Amino acid sequence: MRDALHRIGLLALLAADAPRLFATLDALPWYGGMLRSWVDWTGLRPGLSVLEVGCGPGALCRAMAERGCGVTGIDRSPAMVRSARRRVTGTPTATILAGSLPDLPVAAGRFDLVLAASLLNVVSDRVAALRSMVRAARGGGTVSALFPTPNLLVLAPERAAAWGLTGFSKAALVQWSRSARTVALEDGVGLFEAAGLRDIQAQSFLDGMVGAVMGRAEA
Ligand SMILES: C[S@@+](CC[C@H](N)C(=O)[O-])C[C@H]1O[C@@H](n2cnc3c(N)ncnc32)[C@H](O)[C@@H]1O
Repeated sequence: MRDALHRIGLLALLAADAPRLFATLDALPWYGGMLRSWVDWTGLRPGLSVLEVGCGPGALCRAMAERGCGVTGIDRSPAMVRSARRRVTGTPTATILAGSLPDLPVAAGRFDLVLAASLLNVVSDRVAALRSMVRAARGGGTVSALFPTPNLLVLAPERAAAWGLTGFSKAALVQWSRSARTVALEDGVGLFEAAGLRDIQAQSFLDGMVGAVMGRAEA
């Protein structure tokens, strides 16, 4: 009963205030911690120029800027852009732009690292989306995407119990597994090959419920 109420609350928040929902998710160790492990895996370090597409409410943009990166976040949702701009206020190395894949409002070849979390799985033309991310990367720069895999659909309730998740945290993982559009890790690798990326690597997060792929833009 209590689980159902948490799930209803989560759906209501999604409908009423999606930026707040995604900011709340970022504060959950299993989600926000996974995003930070992912950016570490991509080689994030101070001094890099980073583009995050589909930045949502900007929590990861802010975290990367606080780690010494120059960060540009882009989102197509005006509400997300407003929320992200508020979140990076006072963080001079972070900028938030309104824009939509595949027509990103940034100069070609500008970024050392181009990232997208929970985005490639929801766009209609994944290769076109990835190619536009590749265009934004400098020659030799890194492009990476993180996405839920089909494992999420079957493993989430069991993992939520095994990890001792409760309340909103548990409801968020279970609800994600009920509504997520997924990409198998090997299909993600295929997308990166189709987009012309080199030195492709894949990694699993959350016991394989989430996958990430990264590759190097041609120099
Ligand atoms: C599932 S949310 C993920 C937000 C954030 N990356 C995270 O992991 O918490 C997807 C985000 O991508 C944005 N988005 C969806 N399609 C987009 C597109 N074609 N171009 C840019 N942003 C897009 C949405 O507005 C939303 O903020």
